[in-house]
Amino acid sequence: MRIIFLGPPGSGKGTQAHLIASKYNIPNISTGVMLRQVLSGSLYNFYSINKSMIDVMHSGDLVNDEFMMQLMNIRIRKNDCYNGFLLDGFPRTLLQAESMKKYEIFINYIIEFVVSNSVIVDRIIGRRVHVSSGRNYHIKFNPPKNDGLDDITGEALTTRKDDNEEAILKRLHNYYQHTQPVLDYYRKESKDKKVQYFSVDGNRKILEIYKELISILDLRILIIIIFIIF
Ligand code: AP5
Repeated sequence: MRIIFLGPPGSGKGTQAHLIASKYNIPNISTGVMLRQVLSGSLYNFYSINKSMIDVMHSGDLVNDEFMMQLMNIRIRKNDCYNGFLLDGFPRTLLQAESMKKYEIFINYIIEFVVSNSVIVDRIIGRRVHVSSGRNYHIKFNPPKNDGLDDITGEALTTRKDDNEEAILKRLHNYYQHTQPVLDYYRKESKDKKVQYFSVDGNRKILEIYKELISILDLRILIIIIFIIF
């Protein structure tokens, strides 16, 4: 199972990625989470992170493709990816998508989250995060058990530096400018039967979306099992 989740900021990719990766026991690889961990010094601290990269992320711009490919190439070679993985928020530019072939990173399923802009803003403004695990909460739609604290570790939750109005607009702009062509690229790959492409309505409740994702993926697993047996 090699899956990519794509969708605008706040569309619920990270929330569903946690649920789906744990259901199918595959690593959940979120480049946004990884970058925040790099910036906080808890991941790959041998990388020299300069101030300009911090500014880029906090302003809502995209980090450069070369750095992202290096980061991904290291992560994807780890043993836990042998039976599959879920990529959340990568690739985000056409160059990243095309480079994956060069790095021999092959994908089976692309899942696009379609969400309206008004929903996006409400979700992002209320988001709270636990940086070291990447767990996401929402003060109204998905609150933690104890106010302001992570459910598992009890550590304090924080607000992302790029979850402000100005950065959200830039992230949305970047999504339509740089990531929409990635969706077109995979739609074409799907027509050529190289990947399977699905769009899900991300405006619904977390559980409803989760159930749809499971039904999509379970059906594919069943087809593969039947194919192997016969
Ligand atoms: P990243 O962390 O990936 O941010 P993003 O793409 O902007 O996506 P978000 O994390 O904002 O949203 P999400 O879809 O995961 O929504 P979530 O589940 O949290 O990237 C951050 C930055 O890193 C980028 O701007 C860029 O600078 C850099 N970067 C990352 N990858 C890169 C790449 N490949 N190349 C270059 N640069 C890169 O949900 C949002 C909120 O809504 C949460 O509070 C959640 O609890 C709630 N929620 C979720 N689902 C629902 C629902 N169905 N109903 C109600 N509430 C919900």
